[in-house]
Amino acid sequence: MRLEEIPDSSGLRDKVAIVTGGGAAEQGIGNGRAAAILLAREGARVLVVDQHIELAQATVEMVTGFSGQAAAWEADVTVEADCRQMVSKAVELWGRLDVLDNNVGIGSRGSVVDESPDRWQQVMETNVTSMYLTSKYAIPAMQASGDGGSIVNVASIAALRPRGLTAYSTSKGAVIALTRAMAVDHGAAGIRVNCVAPGPVYTPMVYGRGMSHEARERRKQAAVLNTEGSGWDVGNAVCFLASDRAAYITGQVLVVDGGTTLRGPPRDTS
Ligand SMILES: NC(=O)c1ccc[n+]([C@@H]2O[C@H](COP(=O)([O-])OP(=O)(O)OC[C@H]3O[C@@H](n4cnc5c(N)ncnc54)[C@H](O)[C@@H]3O)[C@@H](O)[C@H]2O)c1
Repeated sequence: MRLEEIPDSSGLRDKVAIVTGGGAAEQGIGNGRAAAILLAREGARVLVVDQHIELAQATVEMVTGFSGQAAAWEADVTVEADCRQMVSKAVELWGRLDVLDNNVGIGSRGSVVDESPDRWQQVMETNVTSMYLTSKYAIPAMQASGDGGSIVNVASIAALRPRGLTAYSTSKGAVIALTRAMAVDHGAAGIRVNCVAPGPVYTPMVYGRGMSHEARERRKQAAVLNTEGSGWDVGNAVCFLASDRAAYITGQVLVVDGGTTLRGPPRDTS
């Protein structure tokens, strides 16, 4: 076999990607910002979408810092018109659409008894309905581009191992079901749909709402690897699933949690 016959390319060069929630506070590396930077490093042109345009612009500056190609776009992904315009903008700028990283998600804290109906609704709209809305417009644009496409939905291990974040866990469970259903619906069109389920990742969302040193240490020790992840770990997983390296993978959940979901009681040796 000759070296040239062995596939080694991500296939992302000159592809067009949308990353929702691609901003992050200050210089912090959130999951979306990391994905946008890593996709651009592979040669993709990236529309960085955020409800706070200045956060998206900060990501774009990081990308242009290494001569990558990206543009910032303001949109609230819970609003249908914003989702439609976001897709139109990517196509208007670069003529096609190949990748959608559905990264936006918000947290919740309580049980069904604690949670207000308004907050429940807001979590579902932001974490689940948004992915329906963005995909509704992204999929026809991918089909029109002619080379299939890849959608990566960001879930959470909270869907697999709930711990008192009930609205959030429910929404992320729905993200996994949505991913699998979309994979079936659009596989024949060459559109792959996968999910990344991050565990304890230390992003601006986490430290922005305040996390004590003790809580952070507990989170680290909960992982088999005894440490926390970063936005880069999630971004790398998104980039892999978006790329040709994952060409035969669809409808899957890639858990990025340092082994946190493997933890249970120690083996009974008595
Ligand atoms: N950080 C973690 O430990 C962790 C763990 C599991 C899963 N996740 C998931 O990863 C994803 C990203 O997490 P993060 O920690 O990087 O988040 P983050 O809070 O840093 O969010 C990224 C961006 O999303 C934007 N955003 C929020 N709502 C929006 C909306 N309606 N429209 C457009 N933009 C909006 C915010 O302005 C922010 O800049 C989320 O889906 C989250 O649930 C995170």
